[in-house]
Order: sequence, then structure tokens, then C-alpha cells
Amino acid sequence: MIAFIHCPDDDGPAVCARLVDEAATLALGARLAAALEPGLKIWLEGDLGSGKTTLARGILRALGHAGTVKSPTYTLIEPYAVSGIELYHFDFYRLASPEEFLDAGLDEYFSGSGVCLVEWPRQALPHLATPDVVIAFAARDGGRVVTIQARTEAGRTCVKRLTDTAEPERTAPPG
Ligand SMILES: Nc1ncnc2c1ncn2[C@@H]1O[C@H](COP(=O)(O)OP(=O)(O)O)[C@@H](O)[C@H]1O
Ligand SMILES: [Mg+2]
Repeated sequence: MIAFIHCPDDDGPAVCARLVDEAATLALGARLAAALEPGLKIWLEGDLGSGKTTLARGILRALGHAGTVKSPTYTLIEPYAVSGIELYHFDFYRLASPEEFLDAGLDEYFSGSGVCLVEWPRQALPHLATPDVVIAFAARDGGRVVTIQARTEAGRTCVKRLTDTAEPERTAPPG
């Protein structure tokens, strides 16, 4: 279950959610999958084991990816093509220096129309493109709290779709 909650330190247009268990993180991923647009760059922040890869797994499963979703810890990137979407999952935890990001030619992925999900993005600064959405994970009471921030217009559209929980309005039958 995902519970959207009031953000404690609201420093802008942020949305927070309490994710009580792994299933909730996967469910948030499924919602995100439905809110994606080509070219979106999403940063996933938070400590080791906070749920970043789990969220990526939730997105990919919801898009229809049937295989495993490996953490790109050692490969830096895991590319996917699913449901007509190109999605690149990055993990820069082991990036020795930001220059390695350029040396490996990874900047090319950020200029195309693929969706980029980035764990440990700050390891690649200052070479990384501006994110559209930043999702930060924190452990809380055995579960997680995520703060979701839109940083661009495309990001705002995505976050709005994500949080739009309203049921489609039922129009009265004619007559
Ligand atoms: N909302 C949640 N509440 C409790 N445990 C969670 C939640 N989401 C994910 N987990 C668990 O936390 C761990 C997170 O691992 P992972 O997603 O690989 O973290 P990261 O990629 O941030 O290092 C996994 O064992 C996963 O089952
Ligand atoms: Mg991870």
C-alpha cells in the first residue's frame, strides 16, 4: 500500500509517500511506469539498501519486463527495451571518478529519448544532465519514506500523473 503523506520539510513542490514494505515500493514503481514519458531522467537517492533498485524493478515489471532486474552496480548500466520504451538503469556507486562517466561514453544515453533511472547520480556530477524527477528514499519504522520532487516541466507532468489517484469521473448514463 502506498500512503501519500504531508512532506515534513517541504522545500518546494514535493510529494511524500510512506512505503510500508517491499510490495509498496514495487507498487510505486508500477505507478511510475504509467507516468513515464520518453527522455525522462529520474534520480534515485538514498543509502545502500534503501529501495532504489527495488523501485526500478517495480517499474520494469509493470512495463512488462519478465526477466530479472539486476543491480547495475558493477556494469554501471543495464539497458532495457520494453513496451516500446527504452529504459536505462544506472548505478554510479562504483564510479571511480566523474570522468569515468565520460570516458565510458555514458553521457550519450542522457541526450536521447530513453528513460534514465539513476542510482547514486551525484557520483557522476558535474557531468550529469539535470534530472526531471528526484526520488529520495529514507528508512523509517521498518519501511521507507520517499520524497518525490519534480525539477522540470516534464517532471511536474510525471509527478502529477503519479499522484493523481482520482477515479475517472463517471458520467451519468444518457437519458
Ligand atoms: N518499502 C520498503 N519497506 C521495507 N523494505 C523494503 C522496502 N522497499 C524495499 N525494501 C527492501 O529493502 C532492500 C532494498 O534493496 P535495494 O532496492 O537493492 O536498495 P538500493 O538499491 O537502494 O541499495 C531490499 O531487501 C528490499 O526488499
Ligand atoms: Mg541499488
